[in-house]
Amino acid sequence: MRKYAPAASIISAGLFFISSAFAEEMKTIVLPPPRMEGGKPLLQALKERKTDREFSPESLPLPMLSTLLWAAGGVNRPETGKRTAPTAMDRREIDIYVALAEGLYLYDPGSHQLKPVLAQDIRAATGGQPFVASAPVNLVFVADYAKMARAPKEDQDFYAATDTGYISQNVYLFCASEGLATVVRGWLDRPALAKAIKLRPDQKVILAQTVGYPK
Ligand SMILES: Cc1cc2nc3c(=O)[nH]c(=O)nc-3n(C[C@H](O)[C@H](O)[C@H](O)COP(=O)(O)O)c2cc1C
Repeated sequence: MRKYAPAASIISAGLFFISSAFAEEMKTIVLPPPRMEGGKPLLQALKERKTDREFSPESLPLPMLSTLLWAAGGVNRPETGKRTAPTAMDRREIDIYVALAEGLYLYDPGSHQLKPVLAQDIRAATGGQPFVASAPVNLVFVADYAKMARAPKEDQDFYAATDTGYISQNVYLFCASEGLATVVRGWLDRPALAKAIKLRPDQKVILAQTVGYPK
C-alpha cells in the first residue's frame, strides 16, 4: 500500500492558496475568472509546443491554474455549456482531476471551481516517472463511461481516448503559450490510480499530464 505525504499548505505568489489537513476541511476552490485573451499567437504556440520532463517544484499561482484548466476543458460558450475541447456527440465524458500537494480536486467546468476529492497528496501515484511526485500539478483525465452509455460499446474506448487527446493538446498549447513545461503520460498504473482516486467501476483513467514551471 502506497503511503502519501501529509497535506501541506502553500503560499503562491503572495496568494493564499488552500490549507487543509483532513478531507472534511478541504474546501471548494473558487477559481478566479480565466484569462481568455492574450497569450502567444496560435502559430507561435504550435511552433513551440513540446514535451518537457524537468519541472520546478514551484506551485502555479491560482490565476495561472484557472486559465490552464479553462484552456484544457473549460466552458467557452456559456449559452450551451460547450467547451474548449470537442467531445464525441457532445458527451463531455472526460473529467479532469487535479492532483496538487494540498490534495486531489475535480475540475467542474460549469462553475469553474475545484471540488475537493481527497485530502491526500497523490501526485506520486499519478505516474511511473519520478518527477510526478514533486511537479506542482498533475492532471488526470478520467473517462466517465456512464455518460457514454448510449454510444455503441465498441466506440466507447475510442471516443474516450480521442476526446482526452484534444484536452491534452489544449494543455500543450497553453503551456507553450505561457512558457510552462508539460508532458502527457500513459506510463501509469491505472488500477492503482483508480483505487487511489476511488473511481467507480464505470470510470477509467485514460492519461495523466504534468504541468509546472520548467526547471
Ligand atoms: C498518448 C501519449 C502517451 C505518452 N506517454 C508518455 C509517458 O508516459 N511519459 C513520457 O515521458 N512521455 C509520454 N508521452 C510524450 C511523448 O513521449 C512525446 O510526445 C514524444 O516523445 C514526442 O515529443 P514532443 O511531444 O516533444 O513532440 C506520451 C505522449 C502521448 C501522445
